[in-house]
Amino acid sequence: MPSVFIKTYGCQMNERDSEAVAAQLVAKGYTLARSEGAADVVLLNTCSVRDFAEQKAINKMRNVAGTARSEKRTQILGFMGCMAQSRGKELIDRLPDVDLVLGTQKFHRAAEYLDELLAGKRDKIVDVEAEAKSEAAIREHLVNGSSKTATSAFVSIMQGCNQHCTFCIVPATRGEERSRTIPDIVAECRELVGRGVKEITLLGQIVTSYAKRDLPILDGKSPFVQLLDAVHEIEGLERIRFTSPHPKGYGDDLAEAYARLPKLCESAHIPLQSGSDRILKLMHRGYTRERFLAIIQKLRQAKPGIGITTDIIVGFPGETDEDFEQTRRLCVEVDYDMAYVFKYSVRTGTPAATMGAQVPEEVREERNQILLEVLKAGSLRRSQALVGTVQEVLVEGRDKTGTHFAGRTPGNRAVVFDAAERLVGSLVPVEITRASVSTLYGNLVVQGAGLQTEPSPASL
Ligand code: SAH
Ligand code: F3S
Repeated sequence: MPSVFIKTYGCQMNERDSEAVAAQLVAKGYTLARSEGAADVVLLNTCSVRDFAEQKAINKMRNVAGTARSEKRTQILGFMGCMAQSRGKELIDRLPDVDLVLGTQKFHRAAEYLDELLAGKRDKIVDVEAEAKSEAAIREHLVNGSSKTATSAFVSIMQGCNQHCTFCIVPATRGEERSRTIPDIVAECRELVGRGVKEITLLGQIVTSYAKRDLPILDGKSPFVQLLDAVHEIEGLERIRFTSPHPKGYGDDLAEAYARLPKLCESAHIPLQSGSDRILKLMHRGYTRERFLAIIQKLRQAKPGIGITTDIIVGFPGETDEDFEQTRRLCVEVDYDMAYVFKYSVRTGTPAATMGAQVPEEVREERNQILLEVLKAGSLRRSQALVGTVQEVLVEGRDKTGTHFAGRTPGNRAVVFDAAERLVGSLVPVEITRASVSTLYGNLVVQGAGLQTEPSPASL
């Protein structure tokens, strides 16, 4: 049977889509190759959010095609995902060795198209059409398909985004918001839990807008909070996370959900983008810095230990030193656990591309560095504040070196510690002894003769 190698660029949504394509192909008898050189089929699942991500995938494909040609191997080569969607046939015009271009609403067609290409029935396939109900077509999981037991899984709850932030290509690559139904999502989560999964991350481009147009508000709860309630009911599921929300979706119902639902992990990734009201308006974000700060305050009231992370763009068109200073000050004020800082990248077809007054690259780079320093210092301080505490950690498996074990705190901090293989998939108390910017180190808390596996009071 043919073997396939899939390389993924970009966000967790892309990771999830790649996993679903891999599972679909494995179910049809394909094997998963260890490297692109050893594969009959190479698929690159692409990201379009910044130009750099697109260039990386294009260069990779050029290299893969070049190597295959020089080694006289025939390989089926495909682009899928966001860049496939936004560039379509142009990708084959640029890279004639590419056989398949599969858009974001077509992942479930991968096996069918590859069969046709491998059998020589078709020469090139480009499919980037919209397809009704494709949001519910991504459901296969690889969990336990390999020898590794997965304790954590992603579940896609919706596709697309209607917010149309002026810098963002996602509404063009992922389309209008379309949500799966609550029973459908719960059934997928239940199945995963039945296969040993303990933690589920609900995914979407703007999850807080989940089913906004399909379901009414019930008892003051938005459809997204109704979904959290339904997933929370699943017996055997230990932890729920979600990404990405939008600040405007943090109503009281969601803040209360953190206090009310013990399985909902005390962490939140809330994209800020800018701390300047003027820039937020130009970005079409739909909130002010004041409103953003009020949300953070509300969440910290509900869960004092909550880990808060964010995304920030520096150098949006027209961003002045004063605008940037507002962002820097907001970062100091919020005291994030971690943040991703992006230098603004022009995306053709988005409103910001023609807003003029582009910020020079040196200025974007300088602002990037300034912010990274502020955020790194904050991250380290917040990490170090955890030294001496006992954290409840979900043991995910071996760490990168293979000598220790790795897991995460409810606040989503990575922890490295010594444990036993049989504890993979359990929640264990770990006393934190040391902290770097992004990783905590610690020891399992051992009580009496056995290992204590209930959460210890200090982590509650
Ligand atoms: N809500 C979405 C956002 C997708 S893009 C999600 O997380 O799936 C992820 C991040 O990339 C955004 O939060 C933003 O900070 C950054 N980004 C998006 N478009 C960008 C652009 N044109 N230039 C630089 N960064 C960008
Ligand atoms: Fe993009 Fe804004 Fe939606 S960043 S994904 S348009 S919330």
